[in-house]
Amino acid sequence: MEEQRGQWGSTFGFLMAAIGSAVGLGNIWGFPYKMGKCGGGAFLLVYLLLVIFVGFATMLGELALGRKYGRGAVGTYAAIGKKWTWVGYMGVASGFFILAFYSVLGGMVLRYMIGFIMQIFGGSGFEGLGGGDFFGSFTTNAAGMMAYYAIFMAVNIIIVAGGIEGGIEKFTKIAMPALAAILIVVIIYVACQPGAGEGYKFAFVPDFSILTTDFFTVLKTAAGQMFFSLSLGMGCMITYGSYLGKEQNLESNMIIIPIADTCFAICAAMAVLPACAAFGQEYGAGPGLLFITLHEVFNVGMGGFIGNLMGFLFYFLVFLAAITSSISLLEVCTAYLIDKQIEKGKEPDRKKLTITIAAIIFLVGIPVALDGLGAGRAGGAVLDIPATFLGVTENIPMAIDCWLDFYDCISEGIMMPLGAAIMSIIIGWVIGTKVVADEVAETPGVKLRAVAIMDICFKFIVPAIMVVVLIAQIQDFF
Ligand code: PHE
Repeated sequence: MEEQRGQWGSTFGFLMAAIGSAVGLGNIWGFPYKMGKCGGGAFLLVYLLLVIFVGFATMLGELALGRKYGRGAVGTYAAIGKKWTWVGYMGVASGFFILAFYSVLGGMVLRYMIGFIMQIFGGSGFEGLGGGDFFGSFTTNAAGMMAYYAIFMAVNIIIVAGGIEGGIEKFTKIAMPALAAILIVVIIYVACQPGAGEGYKFAFVPDFSILTTDFFTVLKTAAGQMFFSLSLGMGCMITYGSYLGKEQNLESNMIIIPIADTCFAICAAMAVLPACAAFGQEYGAGPGLLFITLHEVFNVGMGGFIGNLMGFLFYFLVFLAAITSSISLLEVCTAYLIDKQIEKGKEPDRKKLTITIAAIIFLVGIPVALDGLGAGRAGGAVLDIPATFLGVTENIPMAIDCWLDFYDCISEGIMMPLGAAIMSIIIGWVIGTKVVADEVAETPGVKLRAVAIMDICFKFIVPAIMVVVLIAQIQDFF
C-alpha cells in the first residue's frame, strides 16, 4: 500500500511541505493586520500561548493519527470507528471549498506578479490604473479572473499529480527556501525606508490594556488565525502525516512546524506594515491590504525600477506561499480518492484522480471568480452575490456578501473548528492520548514527553478554544 500511496523522501522534504502548507495567505495577509489591531505584542503573547497549548497538541494529533492509520482524512476517521467517518468527510469538504476560493486569490496574486514583470520590461502592467481602480477593473473582468484562476489551478494539478516525493516534496524543497530568502530581502529593503518605524510600532508595541478591556476579541482573533494558519482541523496534517515513515520524529515535528509558521508570520508583519507606513498607506484588512494598499506601495510609493522589482519579488513570494498551501488542500481531496481506489483493490491512477477532483473544484469555484469579490452585477461583475440569489437586500450578513465569504464561512467558519474540536475529543476521551504517545514511540529512541499536559490539552483546552472559535466565527459571519 505504501508504494501505491507514496512517502516523503526525507525529513527536510516533509518539513518543507508541511511548513509550506502552513505558511500561506493567512500569514502574509491576515496575521500582520490582526496583530496590529489586537494589541500588537500583547496579541503575540496570546497567540504564542495558543500555539503551545492548542497548536502543538492538534498538530501532533493529526500527524500521529495519519501515520498510525496510513490513510487520508476519511480513511483515518473510518479506521478509528465507522461512526466518525463523517468527520473525515467534513475535512475533505473543507479542503474542497477552501481550495476553490484560495485558487481564485492565488490567480489574482499571479496577475499582480505578472503586472510588475511587465513593468520591469517597460510595459504597462496595470492598465495605467491606481490601486483601487485597478482592483475594481480586474476583479470585475470575468475573462481575466477566470484565466488566472485556471492557470493557478493548473499549476496545482501539475505539482500534485507528480506525487508526494516527486511532486509536492520536490516543489516545496525549492519554493520554501526561496520564499524565505525573498522575504528577508523585502524586510531589509523596507527597514531602510524612512518612516518604516511607524509600521513596526503598529505591529509590535504591546498594548496590554486590551487584555483586560477586550480579552475575548484578542482570544478569538488569535485562536481563529492560529488554527487556520497551521492548516489544522481539516485533515491536511493527517494526510501529510500518512506519508511519514516510522523513523520520523513526530515529537520534534509537532514543534518545528508551528514555530516556523509563527516565525514566517512575524516576518511578514515586519515587511508588510512598515512598507505601508513608509509609503503613506493606511493599513486595512481584507482584500484591500494585499491587492490595493500594497499595490500602491510598490507601484506608486516606491515607484520606478526598484518599485517594480520589489513589487515583483513581493507578489512572487505571496504566490509561492499560496501555492505551497493550495497543493496541500488539493492533496487532501486527491488522497481521499486514492485511498478509495486502494480499498476497492484497484491500482490508483494519481494523475487521473488529481485532474478529476481539481476540475470539479474548479467548477465549484467559478462563482468566486465572477462576482467581482462582492461587487455583484450592480458593481459591474457578471454574477450576483449569494445574498441577491437569496433575496436578501438589507443587513446582508458577511456569510453571503460574496461567494468567497460564503465558501469561507462553510469551511473555515464552521467545518474546520468543528473538525479540530471533534478530533481532540476523540483523542482525549474516546481512544485516549496513549494511542498518540504510542505512535510517537514507534520511532526508536523517541518518547513523548509531557504526556499529562498533552492529555489535558486534548481533553479540555483544545475543545474549549475551538468552541470559542466556532462561536466567534458564527457571530462574525451572521
Ligand atoms: N495555512 C494556510 C494559510 O495560512 C491555509 C490552509 C488552511 C492551508 C488549511 C491548508 C489547509 O494560508
